[in-house]
Amino acid sequence: MEQEFAQTMDRGAAWALLRTYNSEPFHLIHALTVEGVMKWYAEQLGYGADAGYWGVVGLLHDIDFEQYPEEHCKKAVELLSAAKVPQSIIHSVCSHGWGLVSDV
Ligand SMILES: [Fe+2]
Repeated sequence: MEQEFAQTMDRGAAWALLRTYNSEPFHLIHALTVEGVMKWYAEQLGYGADAGYWGVVGLLHDIDFEQYPEEHCKKAVELLSAAKVPQSIIHSVCSHGWGLVSDV
């Protein structure tokens, strides 16, 4: 089954949402770093049309880790759903913990 990644969100809105739950420089810099890496890989691997989508996923991937490290990749579902973030982004965010803290 081919997955549709077209439904993304505004990058500024994603940053504002991240800042709602994160204030420590380490976490903010990590989010920005992973955003850049995700966009670079999207371009390199032929998914340049979805680079913005993957950038937002990178930005939000650890949204729950600063305040809820024991619920990593689980609390994120609650935080992102409450902000009406598209389900595809929530799925992508939570999947980075697959086999560690998530079965997504
Ligand atoms: Fe993580």
